Amino acid sequence: PPPGWTLDADVVVVGSGVAGLTTALRCAAAGRRTVVVTKARLDDGSTRWAQGGIAAALGDGDTPDQHLDDTLVAGVGLCDETAVRTLVTEGPDAVRRLIATGARFDASRDGGIALTREGGHHRDRIAHAGGDATGAEISRALVEAVRTAGRAGQGADAGTDPAPGTIRTVENALVLDLLTAPDGRTAGVTLHVMGEGQHDGVGAVHAPAVVLATGGMGQVFSATTNPDVSTGDGVALALRAGAEVSDLEFVQFHPTVLHLGRGAEGQQPLISEAVRGEGAHLVDADGTRFMLGQHELAELAPRDIVAKAITRRMREHGTDHMYLDARHFGADMWARRFPTILAACRAHGIDPLTEPIPVSPAAHYASGGVRTDRYGRTTVPGLYACGEAACTGVHGANRLASNSLLEGLVFAERIAQDIAAAPPARPVPVAPANASAEPVRLLPADSRTAIQRTMTEGAGVLRSGASLTRAAERLDALHGETAHKPAEPGVDTWETANLHLVARVLVAAALRRTETRGCHWREDHPERDDAAWRRHLTLSLRPDGA
Ligand code: SIN
Repeated sequence: PPPGWTLDADVVVVGSGVAGLTTALRCAAAGRRTVVVTKARLDDGSTRWAQGGIAAALGDGDTPDQHLDDTLVAGVGLCDETAVRTLVTEGPDAVRRLIATGARFDASRDGGIALTREGGHHRDRIAHAGGDATGAEISRALVEAVRTAGRAGQGADAGTDPAPGTIRTVENALVLDLLTAPDGRTAGVTLHVMGEGQHDGVGAVHAPAVVLATGGMGQVFSATTNPDVSTGDGVALALRAGAEVSDLEFVQFHPTVLHLGRGAEGQQPLISEAVRGEGAHLVDADGTRFMLGQHELAELAPRDIVAKAITRRMREHGTDHMYLDARHFGADMWARRFPTILAACRAHGIDPLTEPIPVSPAAHYASGGVRTDRYGRTTVPGLYACGEAACTGVHGANRLASNSLLEGLVFAERIAQDIAAAPPARPVPVAPANASAEPVRLLPADSRTAIQRTMTEGAGVLRSGASLTRAAERLDALHGETAHKPAEPGVDTWETANLHLVARVLVAAALRRTETRGCHWREDHPERDDAAWRRHLTLSLRPDGA
């Protein structure tokens, strides 16, 4: 249906994690009329679930070059070195600006920032907050700053367009599609909003700059560390708008989530890599430390290596989990350093002080996403992507631990600079962008479980040509089943359509990459093939929808 309401702005930011809120704050600070739309509440995204922390060369003796080296090694030959250099050199100051915005990090004994280590890092360079609640603190600080910038904009025109230099937020707003002008430039987005009074129903924000900061797509798999809202909405919108996506086959599986038993689905409690960083051991049911001898960093090897080693050991032992032993931390350290994880374990009847924690891998992070340059610009003029939704090239085939919050921060600032440098907006006629000639076919919400099971079976930690082909066929069949009875428009049915689209493209990419590299593990092509595959797979939708 045509929009029932519209807002006009200079920039609309979709998503409210570290990437979205930082972009919004910096755009407003540059005088731009800024709207933030978010699918649930402002603090409901992946950012607030981040535990371990944010990586930056802040410690004595550490340098951006060392951070660069560790990032390139984790990315197994596919990182864009220039983008990584931007990340690691601009990272420390971006963290300092986050602190100036209000985020409080744990302090070291000498009053500096306390730093820990995680997988793949050769230095202590992970800043953390509240022990293991780093994302929650970052989210709190950014939400507060955005609300302050919003209050500054309220007055006679409250409820209407944002004033210059202020931020208007619209919550419970699912983004549907991009709007474009006749010359193909971005002109805004359409939204489906529930429960926000005057903004209820289908509406639109008209703006010449749209920033997709919608986070990841972990919900495409049965078990994930991602919250329910991580359904790949930004990547799906970008695909429908004709943008290119890259590296979607590189899904990072976190080695250690709390194993809740057979059949556990949806978001699983994370056991931060920082627990291993502080000295916890990965053991099998016999108590053997199986990471010793597998990698010079043992439990602190890059996480693709640890996830594969766990998966291999589980197969050898015919079991579905391993254990993380951190009994030796003692009660004080558990309470001070890992209060969130301690509470999550105890809530599930496990006491890490007296027993090893059962763990298994789960989908955690999309290393790929909407392809961008170093200013977050996608291949569609005026459309930007930032954070997990983007593929800036900094992660390559496997993201280094705690580089994601940093990526969101650094590239948000660069996007805001680019938007601030553009001339002010002029109103233009707009129409929904759809690269495919076919209208979006909504899928019934109950297809979500079928998509998740299909993807976990066919495109999980271990994949093969046969498993991926079965997944592709099953996804096609699910789509075919709706040909004569498309689902009714609603948040659930849009999310399911988005999950289906990103799953389809992910499987297509994973099928094509006939090698094993980083977090893409093909059983039928177990070796890395630099001659053929030291390159990216960049895909977009054809007009026939293929
Ligand atoms: C963790 O705390 O293990 C997650 C950190 C990350 O994904 O970067």
